[in-house]
Amino acid sequence: MSPDIVEITHVQEFAASHRLHNPAWTLEENRRIYGICNNENGHGHNWVVEVTVKGELDASSGMVMDLNRLRVLVLEKLIARVDHLHLNHDVPFLRDIIPTAENIARAFWRELEPSLEAHEGCRLHRIRVRESRNNYVDYLGPTLPPRST
Ligand code: NI
Repeated sequence: MSPDIVEITHVQEFAASHRLHNPAWTLEENRRIYGICNNENGHGHNWVVEVTVKGELDASSGMVMDLNRLRVLVLEKLIARVDHLHLNHDVPFLRDIIPTAENIARAFWRELEPSLEAHEGCRLHRIRVRESRNNYVDYLGPTLPPRST
């Protein structure tokens, strides 16, 4: 019988400031493209991160993965390292990255994925980062290399 696949999601909030600025562009280009997010001294958002793990529903436990274990990992690997900080200056894993929601989601994936790799029957499926009530981005992992056969 084929396994049942379920996605489970853990949600956390964090507060952090950022500045979107590409040094390869002029000040005018930066202001035009990034708007308020280009503010010279940065500005803050209340961010929301949603971490989704996808896997087989285990018949004995009735679970894909212990959501409490996922919570602990998200708090340790992500939230504790960004909450109430300036993403451009205070977060080593975001150094030299323009901290758009897209880039934050990708960086979060890289920080979290190794801890989930070994987890039997499930894998990290999506990192969603909400920058505001109206805007969010989804990162679904790096592109798979083309099949050799
Ligand atoms: Ni912003």
